[in-house]
Amino acid sequence: MRAIAVSEYGATPSLVDLPRPEPGPGDILVKIVAAGLNPVDWKIADGMLKDSVDAAFPLVLGSDGAGVVEETGPDVTRFRVGEQVYGEFRMVERGLGSYAEYAIARERSPLARMPEGMIYTQAAAVPTATSSAYNLVREADVDAGQTVLIVGATGGVGQSAVQFAANQGAKVIATARPDMADVLRDLGADEIVDHTKGDLNAQVLSAHSDGIDAVLDMASDRAATERIASLLRPGGTYLSTNFALNPDAMEAQELRGVNFQNAPSGEVLEEIGVLIDAGKVRVRVQEEVPLGEAPDALARSRSGGARGKTVIRV
Ligand SMILES: NC(=O)c1ccc[n+]([C@@H]2O[C@H](COP(=O)([O-])OP(=O)(O)OC[C@H]3O[C@@H](n4cnc5c(N)ncnc54)[C@H](OP(=O)(O)O)[C@@H]3O)[C@@H](O)[C@H]2O)c1
Repeated sequence: MRAIAVSEYGATPSLVDLPRPEPGPGDILVKIVAAGLNPVDWKIADGMLKDSVDAAFPLVLGSDGAGVVEETGPDVTRFRVGEQVYGEFRMVERGLGSYAEYAIARERSPLARMPEGMIYTQAAAVPTATSSAYNLVREADVDAGQTVLIVGATGGVGQSAVQFAANQGAKVIATARPDMADVLRDLGADEIVDHTKGDLNAQVLSAHSDGIDAVLDMASDRAATERIASLLRPGGTYLSTNFALNPDAMEAQELRGVNFQNAPSGEVLEEIGVLIDAGKVRVRVQEEVPLGEAPDALARSRSGGARGKTVIRV
């Protein structure tokens, strides 16, 4: 089968021909139609998990995917051959991932049936980014009327987070370069601050001199989070997807700091599917590329500037 893989950590991803994986007990073999690109894909290729997981090489990249169940291993009861599914297929210890013609999920993996009407491109864009946003907003526990700053709002996680926070009734301030301001307003942002122009804190404070209630941050490093945290009122919450916070130091300032680690599940994907089906959440696909161009798309993701999701057509 054709796949995008690395021969070792740090190697350049390339198109290779590999044997089709065989489903063992509890495995679901899926013929992938579309794979979703996330920054964690190139981070793993760089070696992000090298101290925690014993990887098999060549390592097929990619977590998110959508396709058709081709075969099920012994003991699988939740899914049947021929069903359209979407979810996470990352199996670093077996060298498997979603940037391939076939991928394997475990029966207990974050995997769900695609709702009728959902197309593969959209389904592949959802699993990591939209479930992270869903769980982030749930963890932030914002009430209607509270003010939330979303940093990195133009990216895959950020665009969904804007919608979930707005659906909760929060007042959403979103970071964006000028070209994305209208898109984010359309997704539910009440105010836009341009993180490339002038001082971010000053822009927020100009309309919120008494501070804000929560920050969801997909972009800042430690120094930037420390500065942004000063916008929070006592009792405020700060969630970082990039492990940029020092929660103990924040607690001393009467703030709740959470280095967020997503814990996706099939149930959350099913709930998101219902919301997408009902038009309550939209997923913006920025570009679709053929499998062979995935290495270039990974390089673009690494250099920043995401305006939505990138989907790889397998
Ligand atoms: N911990 C977890 O469980 C978890 C889960 C999901 C994602 N993540 C991580 O969260 C991050 C975001 O993921 P993603 O999929 O949304 O990435 P993405 O699609 O690449 O989007 C990142 C966005 O952040 C913007 N940005 C960059 N620097 C910024 C700054 N200083 N201020 C405001 N915006 C800025 C970028 O736009 P410009 O470059 O134009 O500014 C881009 O639109 C990644 O590092 C990812 O690995 C972690």
